[in-house]
Amino acid sequence: MIAPDAPIAVIGHGYVGLPLAVEFGKHRPVIGFDVKLDRIAALRQGRDHTREVHSADLASATHLTFTADPADLAAARVFIVTVPTPIDAHKRPDLTALLGASETVGPALNCPDLRNTRVVDVAAELADYGVAVEVQDPWVDPSEAKAEYGLVLSVHPDPDSYDGVLLAVPHTLFIDGGIEELRRFGRRNHVFFDLKSRFRAEDSDLRL
Ligand SMILES: NC(=O)c1ccc[n+]([C@@H]2O[C@H](COP(=O)([O-])OP(=O)(O)OC[C@H]3O[C@@H](n4cnc5c(N)ncnc54)[C@H](O)[C@@H]3O)[C@@H](O)[C@H]2O)c1
Repeated sequence: MIAPDAPIAVIGHGYVGLPLAVEFGKHRPVIGFDVKLDRIAALRQGRDHTREVHSADLASATHLTFTADPADLAAARVFIVTVPTPIDAHKRPDLTALLGASETVGPALNCPDLRNTRVVDVAAELADYGVAVEVQDPWVDPSEAKAEYGLVLSVHPDPDSYDGVLLAVPHTLFIDGGIEELRRFGRRNHVFFDLKSRFRAEDSDLRL
C-alpha cells in the first residue's frame, strides 16, 4: 500500500542501520537519522567510521539523506529502527536507546494516508449515493489502492473538474498549498469539505 517513492526512515546509523539505508538509498528516498551529530556530519561527507560501507558505495546511495533533526522524519512512511540494545551482565536488555528512538519516531507516525483515515468509508458512502469518486494521495500506490480498496486514485487530477473537493488527509503538501490550491480542482459552484478542519471554518463550505 506504500508508494514506491514514499520515503523510508532508518533510525540509528551504526553497523546495521547504515548498510541497510545505503542499499535502500540506491533505489528510493531514505531519511537517515541518528542522534550523534558527529556521525551525521561524517556521513554527509561520505565517511563511515565503522567501515561497513566504502565511500564509493555511500556515494552511490543517491536517494539517501542524513539528518539529526527529528522534524525531518515527518516525511517518512516506513520506519526502521536500528539502535543499540545491549545486554548487561545478567543478560537483561538495556532498552534506553530503543525507548528514545520510539519517542523520536512517535510524533512522525501520524501516517496520514488512506490506511489510517476514513477515506475508504467516505468514498464507499458517496458511491452508494451514485457519486463518482476519485481519490488523490501522493503516498499511496494507485494499483494497490484499486486492488485493496477498489479506489480509483487520480495521480494528476484535472483543475476545474469536480463538483466537490474533500480534504480527508492533511498531507503537508495539501495544507502548505493552501485552500485555493485545493479549490482549484473544483468546478464553478463546487463544494469544499474540510473533513480535518485544517483551514478556517469560513473558508470551507462544509466542516464537521
Ligand atoms: N552489529 C551487528 O552485527 C548486529 C547483528 C544483528 C543484530 N544487531 C542489532 O541491530 C541493532 C543495532 O545494532 P548496531 O550494531 O548497528 O548498533 P551500533 O551501536 O553500531 O549503532 C547504533 C546507532 O544508533 C544510534 N542511536 C542510539 N540511540 C539513538 C536514538 N535514540 N535515536 C537515533 N539513533 C540512535 C547511535 O548513535 C549509533 O550510531 C541492535 O539491536 C543490535 O542488537 C546488530
